[in-house]
Amino acid sequence: MADRTIPSSPDEPFPLDPAFPLDAVRAMPKAELHVHLEGTVDAPTLLTLAERHGVAPPADDVAGVEAWYRFDGFPMFLERYFTVLGLLRQPEDFAIVAERYLTRAADQGAVHVEFHVSATGHIVEQHKAWTPLLDGIVDGCRRAEAATGIGWGLIPDVSPHLPAVACAEAMEVVFAGELDHVLAVGMGGPADTWTTDDFRPIYDRARSLGIPAVAHAGEHGPAWEVRFAVEEFGAVRIQHGIGVMQDPEVVELLVERGIACDVCPGSNLALDAVPGVDAHPLPAMLDAGLTVTLGSDDPPMFRTSLLREYELAWSMAGLDLDGLARLAANSVEAALVDLAPIDPAPIDPASIDPARPGAVGSADGNDERRRA
Ligand code: ADE
Ligand code: ZN
Repeated sequence: MADRTIPSSPDEPFPLDPAFPLDAVRAMPKAELHVHLEGTVDAPTLLTLAERHGVAPPADDVAGVEAWYRFDGFPMFLERYFTVLGLLRQPEDFAIVAERYLTRAADQGAVHVEFHVSATGHIVEQHKAWTPLLDGIVDGCRRAEAATGIGWGLIPDVSPHLPAVACAEAMEVVFAGELDHVLAVGMGGPADTWTTDDFRPIYDRARSLGIPAVAHAGEHGPAWEVRFAVEEFGAVRIQHGIGVMQDPEVVELLVERGIACDVCPGSNLALDAVPGVDAHPLPAMLDAGLTVTLGSDDPPMFRTSLLREYELAWSMAGLDLDGLARLAANSVEAALVDLAPIDPAPIDPASIDPARPGAVGSADGNDERRRA
């Protein structure tokens, strides 16, 4: 029986611009390809987990935890992210977090979510057994799937602040377990150890098992990270990839190979990966012909949601409804499962209030907005 003692998440914790065509975007079938399971732990859930495990929480109340979810940069974020990992202990902890997030994603029109799971963080750093943890995640995902119909899959991530050999051993544990829901092997965390330690054998081994590679790259670092991820790890999708615009040859590499970047503007702003909204390269990425999908990365930690990411993209790139639908369709097409039966952009103009700013045919300058 599912434990329902954890209070449900608050409603959207941010105001959306009333001009954003929220209903139309919610109605677009979309996949979320870049979200970390552990990064979906919101403040009430964190407090309940701490209480359940008899651990002093980092703050006494929701407001305090939300303040703790403010970071002066990537290292501070990662330290706190791994603290949250430590509060996920029992299979049911993982189940509740997975179920809750998928339910929220379905509410936002997501038809499929690919959860990154910090596998080596749990196994190497926190000495957890993989199988019960995985069972918990699968249980929670199945509960949400049964209630909402949402699809899902998992991307066990390597954390490169840990030694590559220890990560390889941990990933062998993952590979020896149930692989039915494993869509890819990923890499999250700081990229500065990539070239000093050798993570490539992990990806080679995964490929020998038919498991593709994805990787965070070009988040805080330059374009060469993206090339490295593609050429050394065989990445078929890049998480973030915003550094790519520094090198037209790497842009061309991604365009030629049809490698999508799973971009998270809210995360980039919260972690100062870009100095401000106007400096975000998303418009340039779209202009360059890159395939972009949107994800929320670690939503409560960055005060965002999947729909909020669409709003940010809409406002940064001046997108019209077709542009927004293109991003949704990209996510369906770039998913690691075949979502072909899903019509990626069934926008029924009749379902949209034409008086609403941003709607098709409204007189708010929508024609000046652009398609992705
Ligand atoms: N793990 C969780 N969030 C991450 C991010 N934004 N970058 C790299 N690793 C992460
Ligand atoms: Zn990420």
